[in-house]
Amino acid sequence: MKNKLIVFEGIDGSGKSTQAKMLADKLITLGYDAVYTFEPTNKNYGKQLRDSFFSGRLSPHEELSLFVKDRKEHIEQEITPWLKNNKIVVVDRYMYSSIAYQGALGIDTNYIKNLHNDFILKPNLIFIFTSDVDDCLSRIKQNRKATDQFENAYYLTKVEEIFRSFQGNSFKHINSSESIENIHAEILDYFNKTL
Ligand code: ADP
Ligand code: TYD
Repeated sequence: MKNKLIVFEGIDGSGKSTQAKMLADKLITLGYDAVYTFEPTNKNYGKQLRDSFFSGRLSPHEELSLFVKDRKEHIEQEITPWLKNNKIVVVDRYMYSSIAYQGALGIDTNYIKNLHNDFILKPNLIFIFTSDVDDCLSRIKQNRKATDQFENAYYLTKVEEIFRSFQGNSFKHINSSESIENIHAEILDYFNKTL
């Protein structure tokens, strides 16, 4: 197995980073050439976004434009070369986060999707973590005192609704309230069955 793009999506605190890293580590242990990566990245546009999360200076459209530029750069400079080198690329957040988070701020979801048309790579598999918003917020608060502007229950409930609306062959919904070990086992099992 090689040259695969696997995406993890879900609201903040749903546990997707934990699971994306666990999957990449497990694949490496099994001898596959896997790499874990995330969006927003730590490059220029990603840094501008992280500044904006805490200061709240940019408008939703300005932030959307940065998320899309960050993703285009990520795909062109990292994801595409990795796939060409036959790696299994595990991405923590992708286009579906822009559709869900910026869509929940009132931007048309088809418009958001269309902004990606000229550069997006279609994932082989997309894990969507479905969650109880209050549980996710408690998980975040246990680790960190400060929450950013995206982390409030009313907003995350709308984001969650959009995540749940993604259906189709490449999508696998995962109940994020299960234990870390059970979710890891479920993901490995599904991965083995489908790819
Ligand atoms: P996300 O990337 O979706 O924001 P993280 O993977 O960073 O979420 O997890 C957020 C917090 O919740 C971390 O402290 C993590 O250890 C914890 N966590 C992750 N998965 C679970 C789980 N299934 N049950 C309980 N706690 C979890
Ligand atoms: P991230 O660093 O993944 O946060 P966390 O680890 O807490 O889940 O993402 C930062 C925030 O950016 C997160 O609240 C979701 C938001 N986001 C968007 O609004 N749109 C996007 O396209 C992406 C990739 C992230």
